[in-house]
This record gives sequence, C-alpha cells and structure tokens, in this order.
Amino acid sequence: MRTLRTIAEVRVTIPHGGVGLVPTMGALHAGHVALFEAARRENDVAVASIFVNPAQFGEGEDFERYPRDEEADAAVAEAAGVDFLFAPSVEEMYPKGFDTWVDVEGLSAGLEGDARPGHFRGVATVCLKLFNIVRPERAYFGQKDAQQAAIVERLAEDLNLELEIRVVPTVREEDGLAVSSRNAYLSAEDRDAAAALPKALRAGEEAHDLGSDPLDAARAILAAEPRLEPEYVELARLDGRVYLLAAARAGRTRLIDNVVLEGDPL
Ligand code: PAJ
Repeated sequence: MRTLRTIAEVRVTIPHGGVGLVPTMGALHAGHVALFEAARRENDVAVASIFVNPAQFGEGEDFERYPRDEEADAAVAEAAGVDFLFAPSVEEMYPKGFDTWVDVEGLSAGLEGDARPGHFRGVATVCLKLFNIVRPERAYFGQKDAQQAAIVERLAEDLNLELEIRVVPTVREEDGLAVSSRNAYLSAEDRDAAAALPKALRAGEEAHDLGSDPLDAARAILAAEPRLEPEYVELARLDGRVYLLAAARAGRTRLIDNVVLEGDPL
C-alpha cells in the first residue's frame, strides 16, 4: 500500500478506471473495514482516503479531539487490501481562497442536518472533491450514516457524476451498538447505556412488523435508559426505503443509528 499526500501525486499514481474509493476520517474500525473489503472485491484498485474534514464539524464539535492515529490506520487499511491511501493536509484540500460549496438542499434538512447545521454542506463538498481527485468508478458509504449516503447518491445523480454509490450494511458490536470512531469517547458506564440505542431500533422494527407504532416502541426503550439522552427518533424516506432513525447522547458523546423498516434491505 502506498500513502499519497497531494492531489498532484494522486493524479500521476492512481490509474483511471476500475477504482473503488472509500472516503473516511480515519480512526479505522470494523465498519470501515467492511467498506474496504467491498471496494477490494468489486474493483481492480482499492483506494481509501483519510481526512478529518474541518468543513463538516460545527462550532463546539469534536474536530480538535477527533481521534487521529495514521500509523494504526495505515496498518488496518493495508490488511484489508487497500492499494492506495490518500491522506491530504487541510491546506491541500482547502487552500487559501477556497470558496465553492455544494449543498444538497432538501435531503440535508431534518435529522442530522437540523442537529448539525452546515454538516452536510461540508460532507457533500469534500466528497465531490474526493471524487474529482480520485475519479473512482464506485464509492463506498455505510448505512450507519444513512442520511449521508442518501445525500451523496443525490449529489452523484444531480451533478451527473460517472460514479456508482455503494451502500454497505452497518457493522455492529456484539450487543448491537453500531461500531463508530466516536465509541472510543464512551466511559464504561456510557458504553453500557449506549446499547439501548440499537435495542430501541430493534424494538421499533419488531413493532412495525407486528403492525404497531415503531416510534412509540423505540421511544419507550430509550425512556427506560436514564443514562441516554434521546435527541430524535424519527421515520424518514431515504433512497426509496423507509428508515427508523435515532440519535442520542451518552455523556458528551453523540450516537446515531438506524434500521430499514420498508424497502430492500441493504
Ligand atoms: P467516517 O465517520 O470515518 O466514516 C467513513 C465511512 O464509514 C462512512 O461511509 C460511514 O457511514 C462508514 N461507517 C462508519 N461506521 C460504520 C459501521 N459501523 N458500519 C458500516 N459503515 C460504517 O462518514 C465520514 O467519515 C465522513 O463524513 C466522510 C464521508 C469521510 C466525509 O468526510
């Protein structure tokens, strides 16, 4: 595996055609590995990017303390079969004078978009930049961030990108908690409480299958865990499927998760 730091290096090194790209912010875990493996399987060349994108972090969010360990990440990516790692600096991605932003308007409203104003503008912009730099045939995103995946699909369609967006099912811990870089922030007690989030979504799924209200069922489970502070539990139609989505705080850590209630499972 080769690590590339500049756009110029990418342009002369990564071949055109047959490339699968997995954009990440590093702190790599089993969820990222599932994306790398899919990219490895479905393409001649697997590329991962690691870039903690300042444009998608709001005031008071965790940009500064976001976990960064490039050496460990490189080992994980290499073991998963990644051929090239693109790890640019902030100056490389946002040089002085940078002034163009991409807004996927309708889909960025609600859910995470309301909780994190400007977040999806930063995500859409950096993803389009990465697509233009690496020019993949396919790009890989996780269901865990279902709104993000739907936004990137919309972006690719609306701006006529010659690119297939592939969405990979959420990888979970044994107790159901979605694997996340931010789980590292959880104290033992908060980690314990966090399991109520996937449990609530599962209860919602079961209620839905039995013809009762998934929102009531999910909210009841969350209400029974005083160490979790629910932010939203909502239904939304994204990419033609109906999702049950939730966000909650465990201590200072914000957790999100979702399940598909209607439509093809991912
Ligand atoms: P990051 O949080 O590093 O996630 C990178 C990709 O891994 C995203 O597509 C995310 O949905 C996926 N992912 C994370 N946890 C997962 C899990 N448990 N199972 C399956 N997939 C999982 O999302 C971002 O970075 C950024 O917003 C980015 C797209 C890189 C733009 O900066």
